[in-house]
Amino acid sequence: MTKTALVTGAASGLGYELAILLAQDAYKLILIDIDASSLAKVKTALESDYKVEIVTLVKDLSTQGIAEEIMADIAHAPIDVLINNAGFGLFGSFVDTDWERESKMLHVHILTTTHLTKLVLEGMVKRGYGRILNMSSLAAFQPGPLMAIYYASKGYMLSFSEAIANELKGTGVTVTALCPGPTKTAFQKTVSSESSDNKITFNMASAKAVAAYGYKSMHNGKTYAIPGKFNKFLAIVPRIVSRNAAASIVRKIQEKNRH
Ligand SMILES: NC(=O)c1ccc[n+]([C@@H]2O[C@H](COP(=O)([O-])OP(=O)(O)OC[C@H]3O[C@@H](n4cnc5c(N)ncnc54)[C@H](OP(=O)(O)O)[C@@H]3O)[C@@H](O)[C@H]2O)c1
Repeated sequence: MTKTALVTGAASGLGYELAILLAQDAYKLILIDIDASSLAKVKTALESDYKVEIVTLVKDLSTQGIAEEIMADIAHAPIDVLINNAGFGLFGSFVDTDWERESKMLHVHILTTTHLTKLVLEGMVKRGYGRILNMSSLAAFQPGPLMAIYYASKGYMLSFSEAIANELKGTGVTVTALCPGPTKTAFQKTVSSESSDNKITFNMASAKAVAAYGYKSMHNGKTYAIPGKFNKFLAIVPRIVSRNAAASIVRKIQEKNRH
C-alpha cells in the first residue's frame, strides 16, 4: 500500500532533498511551505521525474493553530512519515534582534513541530508504524551567543525528540533528531550577512548528502543523527569543556567572523 509522507519547508534546501528521496521511494507526498511559487515549482519538477501523487499546502507555520489547520486540510489522512524541517536562523545580540522574527522562529521550531507531532502521532501509534524526523542542528549541543534563540530552539527540538523517542519504544514509531552542521542551502542568506555561517569555507556539507544521511537514519530508527565525522566530534566538545567555555567558544567564532 502507498505510504504517505508530510514534509514542512519542502520548497528549498534540506526539505526539498528529503522530498526527492521520498518520491524516489514512491511515497504520496504532502509538501508544505510558506513560499507558493517555489512550492509549485517543486511539485512540477517532482511530478515530471517521479510517478507520485503530490499535495501542496501553502502555510505560514509561525501562526497560531496551524497544525490543526493542516490536519483539517488533509482530512486527518494517516501519515506514515512526518518530517518537521521548516526553520530559519537570525544573527545578532538578543538585546537588539527583532522580536517579531524571533517569536515566529520559536513558533515554527517549537510550537508547530510539537503540535504537528502530537496530532500525527496518535494515528501512528494506533497503526503500529511511523517515522518522524525533526530537523534539529549541531547548534543543539551548546548555547549560541549571537544566535541565542536559534541555538536554544534547536536544543529544544533535540531534547523533545529524544524524550518521546524513548517513550515510544516498542510502539513501531520512531523519532529521529537530525543535527546537521553547516549545510549549503538558502539558510545562510536568511540568517544575516554578518553570521559566521556565511563565512564558513570548510566543513560545509551539501544538502543532498545531509538529507540522504538523515533519511537513512530516520528509516533505521536512530534517535539522533549527526552527519559527518568532524561534526560528531564538535557535538562532544561541550561535554568535555565547562558550559561557560562552550558558550565562549561559540561567541569567539561568531565575533571573529563578524568583523
Ligand atoms: N543549512 C544549514 O546550515 C542548517 C544546519 C543545521 C540545521 N538546519 C535546519 O534545516 C532546516 C531546513 O533549512 P535549510 O537549510 O534547508 O534552509 P532553507 O533552504 O532556507 O529551507 C527552509 C525552508 O523552510 C521554509 N520556511 C521558513 N519559515 C517558514 C514558515 N513560517 N512557514 C512555512 N515554511 C517556512 C522556507 O521558506 P522561505 O525561504 O520562503 O522563508 C524554506 O523553504 C531548518 O530547520 C534549519 O534550521 C540548517
